[in-house]
Amino acid sequence: MAQQTRVAVVTGVNRGIGLAILRSLASGYAGPQPLVVYASTRAGTLPEDIAAQCQPHVQIIPVQLSLRDPSSIDALASRVARDQASAGGRGEGVVDVLINNAGVYYYREFIPTSERHDTLETNYHGTLRMCLAFLPLLRNPGGRIVNLSSQTGRLRWFAPWLRPRFLDPDLTLDKLDALVREYDAAAARPGDEVKAGWPPMAYAVSKAAVNAFTRILARENPGLRINSCCPGWVATELGAQAGPPPKTPEEGARIPLHLAFGEIGETSGRYWANDSTNDTGIGKVQEP
Ligand SMILES: NC(=O)c1ccc[n+]([C@@H]2O[C@H](COP(=O)([O-])OP(=O)(O)OC[C@H]3O[C@@H](n4cnc5c(N)ncnc54)[C@H](OP(=O)(O)O)[C@@H]3O)[C@@H](O)[C@H]2O)c1
Repeated sequence: MAQQTRVAVVTGVNRGIGLAILRSLASGYAGPQPLVVYASTRAGTLPEDIAAQCQPHVQIIPVQLSLRDPSSIDALASRVARDQASAGGRGEGVVDVLINNAGVYYYREFIPTSERHDTLETNYHGTLRMCLAFLPLLRNPGGRIVNLSSQTGRLRWFAPWLRPRFLDPDLTLDKLDALVREYDAAAARPGDEVKAGWPPMAYAVSKAAVNAFTRILARENPGLRINSCCPGWVATELGAQAGPPPKTPEEGARIPLHLAFGEIGETSGRYWANDSTNDTGIGKVQEP
């Protein structure tokens, strides 16, 4: 009997950790079944000849996606559903893994409104839209989502009175959205957000929101494995803004790849990281 093909979607593969994830899947994916990877970039093209690196049972399909353009998110979900249905896709869902890797970081405090909004639109709204567009396509039970977050989004950087609002076990997407809008309104007058207990970087709030909707979606979809992670401090354009990072992109790809394809049991709705952002292990569940 033919082996069932596995289907993965990975965003932001033109550079950094996303490219390392793609290279690893192309040349190192050891699963028993064939693997198809929809590899998204804003241009819709790949930065190198990945096909030449692919093992015979791995196929990489370049696709266009901008997290700031909801129609491109919907178009990608429709494309994957259509392709896989015509390839004899399974009734219970056609996507095994979604890795939401793409993101932006303006590594400065009190950034201008346009950069704050780019951060919230891309990292929070865009990543959430990807989850919502792909949830109906995920194999259930068993499908997985991995959201790239950051230790910067841990609640230890938020005032004690804000933490329970993110951790509320009854938090909904609407309540989370209101919380992020509250931050955005406070940050409109630089410094007011810090007085109100928020961290000074929009990136931190966007990633705390990623961790929060990861918990909400995991609670609402018990058959799936939906987790967020910090890849560590990684030598990419994004990571190098904060100084010389200790980890290579390949090392930064380890945790997301483990959450996407490794043995994680029933773990869902959790934040994964190593104890230190320098560590190169596969991480473990940590306090968000
Ligand atoms: N590097 C680190 O130390 C570190 C630490 C913690 C967390 N992370 C997280 O890891 C993930 C990957 O980061 P990285 O270090 O690999 O960063 P990177 O090298 O700067 O790559 C970021 C990727 O995101 C894509 N992207 C940005 N905005 C997008 C949009 N609106 N629509 C579609 N794609 C978009 C970029 O595409 P373009 O080239 O078209 O801009 C690029 O492919 C991010 O979510 C980041 O927050 C990284």
